[in-house]
Amino acid sequence: MTDAPLLRVHNVSKFYGSRIGCRDVSFDLWPGEVLAVVGESGSGKSTLLNCLSTRLLPTTGSIEYHMRDGKYRDLYRMSEAERRFLMRTDWGFVHQNPADGLRMTVSAGANVGERLMAVGGRHYGNIRSTATDWLGRVEIGADRIDDQPRAFSGGMRQRLQIARNLVTGPRLVFMDEPTGGLDVSVQARLLDLVRNLVNDLGLSAIIVTHDLAVARLLSHRMMVMKDGLVIEQGLTDRVLDDPRQPYTQLLVSSILQV
Ligand SMILES: Nc1ncnc2c1ncn2[C@@H]1O[C@H](COP(=O)(O)OP(=O)(O)OP(=O)(O)O)[C@@H](O)[C@H]1O
Ligand SMILES: [Mg+2]
Repeated sequence: MTDAPLLRVHNVSKFYGSRIGCRDVSFDLWPGEVLAVVGESGSGKSTLLNCLSTRLLPTTGSIEYHMRDGKYRDLYRMSEAERRFLMRTDWGFVHQNPADGLRMTVSAGANVGERLMAVGGRHYGNIRSTATDWLGRVEIGADRIDDQPRAFSGGMRQRLQIARNLVTGPRLVFMDEPTGGLDVSVQARLLDLVRNLVNDLGLSAIIVTHDLAVARLLSHRMMVMKDGLVIEQGLTDRVLDDPRQPYTQLLVSSILQV
């Protein structure tokens, strides 16, 4: 890890009219760090993730990103075009529902290749071979490259979405319940795959989940949200093994009974 945070989040709040989405969230994310955001349904996890990834304008607060040129930029002081460029090049976003992150009616190969073209890839043969390579990395056979994702199982779709997001070598990946819609055996394999990819690529990631086992497996650090507030944060093992807040203790013990 270097000595400069990748993301500096300062007092981010989002209100939907009078309803609180999230409130006064501040943290730094470091290069190579995986942060899990956990909490019950409605606690504000997706609201926060969407604010961080510029999909939703916060009501107040600032989010600064450490650009490749070494300068910090406030995400909401950039132009829309600059934000979109960042999303295409430096970032990935993995949706809970793969259909939201894939083009369902173009081939698997094109889903991956399209991202390469968006960052300037031109040579058809190179794009196709990189796409094939990435399908292999997410355990999709080369014989499926011309199939459309609508012909894939849920687990395959999610793996394809991950390949599409990682193929351009992003520095930061956002994931909202990446294993949410999958059955348990498929979840375990996918988590293993994500963990290996994140390690190999030295990615930073922010992963929203209501599943503490996912946080345990993937994250270095975690934040616990309740009613829009971050009520506890710390190293993942510390929070799960020695939760300080009564709410976190409840969350941890109720999961352990499952
Ligand atoms: N578009 C919206 N308009 C109004 N209120 C919203 C909107 N989106 C979210 N909220 C409210 O903001 C709060 C936080 O919602 P959010 O979706 O961020 O929770 P979450 O932790 O992601 O929940 P889940 O685990 O169910 O996905 C909730 O009270 C929710 O009702
Ligand atoms: Mg959510």
